[in-house]
Amino acid sequence: MEKFNLRVFRYDPTRDEEPTYKIYTLPVEKGMTILAALFKVKEEQDPSLSFRYNCRAAICGSCAVRINGHAKLACKEQVTKLLEQFETDTLTVEPAGNIKVLKDLIFDMDWVIEKMKKVKPWFIPKEPPPADGTEYRQSPEEHARIDYASDCILCASCMSDCNALSVNEEFLGPLVLSKAYRFAADSRDGAKRERLEAVLDKFNLEWCVRCWECTTRCPKEVQPYENIIRLRIMAAEEGYKTPGEIHAEVFEKDILNRGLLNEMLLPFKQEGLVGGLKRAPFGIRMFFKGKVNIADFFGGHTIPRIEEVQTIYEKVEEKKKDINIRIPQILGLVYEDKRKSKKKESSQNGGEQ
Ligand code: SF4
Ligand code: SF4
Ligand code: FES
Repeated sequence: MEKFNLRVFRYDPTRDEEPTYKIYTLPVEKGMTILAALFKVKEEQDPSLSFRYNCRAAICGSCAVRINGHAKLACKEQVTKLLEQFETDTLTVEPAGNIKVLKDLIFDMDWVIEKMKKVKPWFIPKEPPPADGTEYRQSPEEHARIDYASDCILCASCMSDCNALSVNEEFLGPLVLSKAYRFAADSRDGAKRERLEAVLDKFNLEWCVRCWECTTRCPKEVQPYENIIRLRIMAAEEGYKTPGEIHAEVFEKDILNRGLLNEMLLPFKQEGLVGGLKRAPFGIRMFFKGKVNIADFFGGHTIPRIEEVQTIYEKVEEKKKDINIRIPQILGLVYEDKRKSKKKESSQNGGEQ
């Protein structure tokens, strides 16, 4: 292929009512990145095109855009590879998703920064620096827990493709939660509980819908989704009850007492009167679809032979004492560095890390 089309999102809020797309035809050049293609358009065809960049080396995080629907760094993606991957002669470039567009491919980072302030993404030492004038220390094992999370370049690719953020602006989002993890998991940090309380506020940590898009899109293998899970484990270790835990407890008690779940009372037991009432419109819709058993509001019925279910519970309780599962036992797995590049490096070094 000698030429390809770059279909670019264009929007100038001072002039345009609606965004449009403009197509620029460019020569296919070996090694040309999407950022280089945007420069070629700006220098040779349309100087009004606006985009953001700085390092041109996948380090600063400034150039995140959406290419054919997904967030990527424009300076990292090669045109020839993308044309081959998508089996096309046209590549569409748009601003990152879930984010207010300022002009063309430039999006607003202020709202991300405002969200970040909630988790205080800076080091708050738990003790004064060593008296001998040396720096704060941590062991290689302690550092391994935050190594991957420290690689975040704030590009917002994960925020762009986050499915939970697309329906809920109040969700802190993978970038912010990952930052919270990076500092809360730092052995030198003194504000772990403060950070955990910030992410647990209004069930924020639970709003992630576990789609794994953030980890898939992250250009630096920061593992944002895994960091969210790590935050949940840390919160449980610190004695906080997460909404997921409360949900499981309500389930468990219902099955123990009735042998089946009471879905009508579940939101009230889990989120209290106000939280339960918030779900009233949904409940009314369920009622008109014939999915509500009014008797459940008054406790509902109990299944026959409930004593047999309760005997199973008793047996499980007895067994639990022997098994004694504790979270720290699985910590090795929870904090495992899942970076593919790390594994590659390790196998090249004969498996040593
Ligand atoms: S896994 Fe959670 S945080 Fe990540 S993109 Fe999906 S919803 Fe967003
Ligand atoms: S976690 Fe990854 S995708 Fe998200 S901002 Fe950081 S580097 Fe970018
Ligand atoms: S220009 Fe810095 S990451 Fe692309």
